[in-house]
Amino acid sequence: MNLIKKLLVAPATVLALWAVTAQATTDDAIAERLKPVGEVCVMGEECKGVGAVAVVAGGAARTADDIIAKHCAACHTPGILGAPKIGDTPAWKARADKEGGVDAILKTAIAGINAMPAKGTCADCTDDELREAIVKMSGL
Ligand code: HEC
Repeated sequence: MNLIKKLLVAPATVLALWAVTAQATTDDAIAERLKPVGEVCVMGEECKGVGAVAVVAGGAARTADDIIAKHCAACHTPGILGAPKIGDTPAWKARADKEGGVDAILKTAIAGINAMPAKGTCADCTDDELREAIVKMSGL
C-alpha cells in the first residue's frame, strides 16, 4: 500500500470504529428505555428479572485478551495514527515514563487522546479492565 492510500485508509478505519461504537451506545440506550420499570418476584419461584440482572453482571467476565481483540487491536496491532503497537514495550514505556506510570496512561486512555477515542471504543469497560488490557498490550 502506498503512503497516500495508507493516509486515506487510517481515518476511514477510525470513522468506521466510531460509527460502530455510536450504534452500540444507541442500541443500549433504547434497550434501557424499553426495559420494564419493575418486576414482581415471588419467593420460591423462578424470577426472570433477577436472573437477567445476574446474567448481565456475570457477562462482565471477559478477559483482557477479549477486550484487546474486540476494541484495541484494530489500531494497536498495526499502530495506526501513531498508536503504540502491541508488544512494543519501549514505545509504551516511553509514554508511561513521560506521563507518570501505567495509571497515568490509563487516565489518558479513559479520556481519549488525539485519534484515540475515549476508552479506546470500549465504552462499557471498567477502569480495571482497561488497565489489564494496557498492561497486556504494553508488557509493562
Ligand atoms: C481508533 C484507534 C484506536 C483504538 C480502537 C484504541 N486506541 Fe489506544 N491509541 C490510539 C492512538 C492513535 C494512540 C496514540 C495517540 C497519540 O498519542 O496521539 C493511542 C494511545 C493509547 C495509549 C497511550 C496513552 C498515552 O497516555 O500516551 C493507551 C494506554 C491506549 N491507547 C490504550 C488503548 C486501549 C486499552 C484500547 C482498547 C480498549 C485502545 N487503546 C484502543 C488509537 C486507538
